Amino acid sequence: MFSFPPNFLWGAATAAQQVEGQNFNNDWWDWEQVPGHIHGGDSSRVACDWWNGRYREDFDRAQSLGHNAHRLSVEWSRIEPSEGKWEDAVIARYREMLIALRERNIEPFVTLVHYTHPRWFMARGGWLSDESPRLMERYAAHMVETLGDLCHFWMTLNEPNLYMVLNYVWKGRPPGTGSITQAVHVARNMMLAHYRAYAAVHHAQSGAQVSLAHQWRWISPANPQSLLDRAVAWQSNYLTNEMFLRTLTDGKMPFPLGRGEKIGDGKMPLDYFAINYYFENRVAFDVTRPGSLFARQLPSTWLDGTPYASFDEAGNLNPSALYELLKRLARFQLPIYITESGTFEIGYDNQSPYLIAHLEALHRAQQDGADVRGYFWWTLTDNFEWDQGYWLRFGLYHLDVESQARTKRPVADVYARIIRENGVADELVEQFRG
Ligand code: FCB
Repeated sequence: MFSFPPNFLWGAATAAQQVEGQNFNNDWWDWEQVPGHIHGGDSSRVACDWWNGRYREDFDRAQSLGHNAHRLSVEWSRIEPSEGKWEDAVIARYREMLIALRERNIEPFVTLVHYTHPRWFMARGGWLSDESPRLMERYAAHMVETLGDLCHFWMTLNEPNLYMVLNYVWKGRPPGTGSITQAVHVARNMMLAHYRAYAAVHHAQSGAQVSLAHQWRWISPANPQSLLDRAVAWQSNYLTNEMFLRTLTDGKMPFPLGRGEKIGDGKMPLDYFAINYYFENRVAFDVTRPGSLFARQLPSTWLDGTPYASFDEAGNLNPSALYELLKRLARFQLPIYITESGTFEIGYDNQSPYLIAHLEALHRAQQDGADVRGYFWWTLTDNFEWDQGYWLRFGLYHLDVESQARTKRPVADVYARIIRENGVADELVEQFRG
């Protein structure tokens, strides 16, 4: 048996657009309306139907599995449907959600912006506009004023690093236009917005814990012997991870986001690390790809949904990368929460081996000094997986979107047992060796 510290937080993570349904006033909804944008023509119209109150039954499920924390996001386009107009009835609904969590002894972690933006915000240029940090600051201040009595753990933004690439370089998500220069500008404004929102939350709430959810892509060279592969891996890692880590820990804006200038008072705008970790990326040098800065990602079986017999065979599942990462972050002496981790089901219980192997890595890192205080599985109930629609299903529960029926997956019981025992029994390790 390997055990976790007392008071360790166990939960699942969700995001507004993916679970609520009826989010019709943002950039994502507009994007969905264009044929070809979403796998299978799926829609977030209903999703998990939380806006009609089904969050209650899902929170009951989380409680029945022993969860003592839950990560969710609030939807800016509902809260501020036109600039400067706050929708009190919507805020009241979010208060009900947070109360529903508290009634179940589940600690809420609230993300303010998880990939979706009000239509009016995008009309002003979205994160390309240099007004955006100020607009975010106002929104954050309003949220902490109206929800602060129910929530202590905040995340300003979800994954600026992926947003900048997926939306402005690969252009497979809204607005679907852009360039590398624009992507850098977007990331810069998002980081400035984080600094301002961080200060706004602390100004209004003493004891608030504020972070930014960063998806750490562990990037390694396809061929470790090749100098060129190593060079593109270094560069990708810098642009995907290190540049953001530096902005969050140095109090300065590093190149190419800035020229090393101090941001605000130059203090670290981070009370804990919120790390989303899924898989490793292997990259090779490719002279034909100047648009991707000469980096080519090796195809991954994991992302194709092809069954695999071992993590190695999956190509890029690498739990020891999580160990290395946590040890690296331990140097900063901040609490760490894994705010997303998980894999989608591919026709058999591939989720339990993933869970066990990543918890083993997490535990090892704790033994070696990383102050990891919580783990959130992505996700509770299958939900609307962005451009992948309902094709990629990460849930502890299977969802039939049509009937809204939920069915428990094997991983849910495995997770519940781990939570109950606050540790992983040898028997589980034996049974689910990856
Ligand atoms: C993360 C997102 C989350 C979900 C998972 C699978 O990048 O934050 O919304 O899509 O991936």
